[in-house]
Amino acid sequence: MDKIIIENLSLQYADGIESLRGISLNIREKAVTVLFGPAGGGKSTLLRCLNRLNDLTEVKASSGKILIDGKNILDPDVDVIALRRKIGMVFARPVVLPLSIRGNLTYGLELAGEKRRSKLEEAVERSLKLAALWEEVNDRLDDPAIALSGGQQQRLCLARSLALQPEIILLDEPTSGLDPISTGKVEAALQELKKEYTIILVPHSVQQAARTADYAAFFLQGELIEYGEGQSLFTAPRQKRTEEYVTGRFG
Ligand SMILES: Nc1ncnc2c1ncn2[C@@H]1O[C@H](COP(=O)(O)OP(=O)(O)O)[C@@H](O)[C@H]1O
Ligand SMILES: [Mg+2]
Repeated sequence: MDKIIIENLSLQYADGIESLRGISLNIREKAVTVLFGPAGGGKSTLLRCLNRLNDLTEVKASSGKILIDGKNILDPDVDVIALRRKIGMVFARPVVLPLSIRGNLTYGLELAGEKRRSKLEEAVERSLKLAALWEEVNDRLDDPAIALSGGQQQRLCLARSLALQPEIILLDEPTSGLDPISTGKVEAALQELKKEYTIILVPHSVQQAARTADYAAFFLQGELIEYGEGQSLFTAPRQKRTEEYVTGRFG
């Protein structure tokens, strides 16, 4: 099943080049789709369109549609706050709140009006387990989050977005600052999460793309060059430019 249907999406920040050029792409539900390619390809721009973060940026022109569960989320009447609850996002550098580990996880729910201790505790445990962090922190939930390692902070950011029970999770190079062991833990968590969630990942390397992708889309200078199942796209790309990139001939 397709969770997201992107139809002919174009975006231009300023005069000159288009950062997205007529992108049409269907994102499968309960799978990991990776958006990969060299810097400047439009990957982050596309992620920011999906949860309307680009509303906060100056955009010169944009057109096209993004249908989520049949509704065009670019329509002006969309409830952006509700949309962002449905779509969690994790960035390259973990930004934890200056609160305890538990506080980072309950903050969003409390803001949304949840007061019941049992519900909050349930969310803390569930989201930490999903983000593969529970074993490491369950005996110190009241410690400041900032005391965690970088890899743990990144998994806490993932847990924080999961606490709000989103349907879609966007991750923009979430392991670019992490050591290989922490990176492995985040990748393992994604393999579990995809059973329940629709995941869109911008990987930090072609290797990570190949390891994690159920489906993959190769972006080059605002264009979607090729889309396919991960296995076939990385082993037998159809486009010459995809092949050159995945075999390391440019990057
Ligand atoms: N806020 C912005 N204002 C102007 N141009 C931007 C902005 N963000 C990105 N761009 C431009 O849009 C293009 C795509 O960038 P980006 O989406 O960040 O690519 P990627 O994530 O694939 O590296 C680049 O040419 C970049 O310079
Ligand atoms: Mg980017």
